[in-house]
Amino acid sequence: MTNMWRSLLLIGAAAASLMQEPLQARRGHLSLTYDLIAFHKNLTQIESITGNEEAVGEWLVASLKSQGYSVERQYVEEKPARFNILAWPGKERDAKVLLSAHIDTVPPFYPYEHINNTIRGRGSVDAKGSVATQIIAINRLLSSDKISPDDVALLYVVGEEKGGDGMRAANALKLSPETVIFGEPTEGKLAAGHKGNLMVIVKAKGKAAHSGYPWLGRSANEVLVKSLAALMELGQKLPKSDKYGITTLNLGQIQGGVAPNVVAKDASADVAVRIAEGSPEFIREEVTRAVHTAVQSFLEKGMKPEDVVEINFPTSGYGPIEIDHDVPGFDEITVNYGTDIPSLNKTVEGQKRYLYGPGSILVAHSDHEMLTEDQLFDAVGGYEKLVLHALRK
Ligand SMILES: *[C@@H]1O[C@H](CO)[C@@H](O)[C@H](O)[C@H]1NC(C)=O
Ligand SMILES: *[C@@H]1O[C@H](CO)[C@@H](O)[C@H](O)[C@H]1NC(C)=O
Ligand SMILES: *[C@@H]1O[C@H](CO)[C@@H](O)[C@H](O)[C@H]1NC(C)=O
Ligand SMILES: [Zn+2]
Repeated sequence: MTNMWRSLLLIGAAAASLMQEPLQARRGHLSLTYDLIAFHKNLTQIESITGNEEAVGEWLVASLKSQGYSVERQYVEEKPARFNILAWPGKERDAKVLLSAHIDTVPPFYPYEHINNTIRGRGSVDAKGSVATQIIAINRLLSSDKISPDDVALLYVVGEEKGGDGMRAANALKLSPETVIFGEPTEGKLAAGHKGNLMVIVKAKGKAAHSGYPWLGRSANEVLVKSLAALMELGQKLPKSDKYGITTLNLGQIQGGVAPNVVAKDASADVAVRIAEGSPEFIREEVTRAVHTAVQSFLEKGMKPEDVVEINFPTSGYGPIEIDHDVPGFDEITVNYGTDIPSLNKTVEGQKRYLYGPGSILVAHSDHEMLTEDQLFDAVGGYEKLVLHALRK
């Protein structure tokens, strides 16, 4: 056997069931593609860092339409144009099972690269791996008549990586699915839950002065450093749980001051808290108490802590999110990242929510985001199983 044949067979083994079908097939009004690798490539090649999702949205709309799906755009922002995509293969816009993932990515962009079995590039995992495998899974179920076109709908949203404005807007679509399947990298396992999330912005308020006469001013940098040191200490003491482990606090972004010889007037830090146990209200109170205590030494007569430091919580945050995981045949995982799940209101009593997708979060936001062809093919099978379970078929 030549090397070329050997490697063709190896790739073929993973893709065996997919390869036996033509890559495109007609089914009633549908003209479905099964070409997973090319579909995923087309999607991943288009840069779509949050705020710049228009081009990938346009491509996905065109592709879904050409396959026979009905497609609705929901504008989340007009300029720059940012829209969610709702698509359904049959007559039912508000179908029993909704599959969803996000089409934005974190920065910076890394180009698509496919060598042997390995696929790299920004978004290849998070979350275009999920988008592509969801669509191919539905196409396969439709073409084998295992589901009816009226059983399913697809929702692809913008803005997940920056606060979830896309999914929050999607509440206005007035959908009432019995089951929502969210796609994010879960290593092909079924997520039983994820940590909660709270963003904190600490803004120190100083008084500029010449650095030779620092007593004439108040250094915002010093106020901030004291505040953040207190938060680091607090971070060691926040609640933990058996299921999610420890609550973590990340001093993600810090800025302050203008020059070494100027007492800094402004300084601020953006902090993310990943909540393992308890409510965001509790964390907000603890953060406020810790920072207010830490800045006491800066307070002149009659001043309050708020006069030297401002604490903002840009979103209300959320505690740990429990996710349904009652489907046989899957390994389980809990994850430490946030998702769009809490942004989508539960419109149906007893609505089931699953979280599943190919690839690992450990590489997702890194400069070596990658997954394998096999992981993509496996996820197609995983989504098929979840959809059939949701439809009790
Ligand atoms: C991917 O893009 C190429 C080039 O535009 C096109 O020929 C091909 O049909 C696309 N395939 C899929 C599955 O989207
Ligand atoms: C890809 O596979 C070929 C054939 O097995 C091998 O010679 C080559 O080194 C591989 N390339 C990489 C980058 O792994
Ligand atoms: C649904 O979610 C939106 C945005 O997240 C929220 O403002 C609204 O109050 C919710 N609507 C209902 C009916 O719960
Ligand atoms: Zn994601």
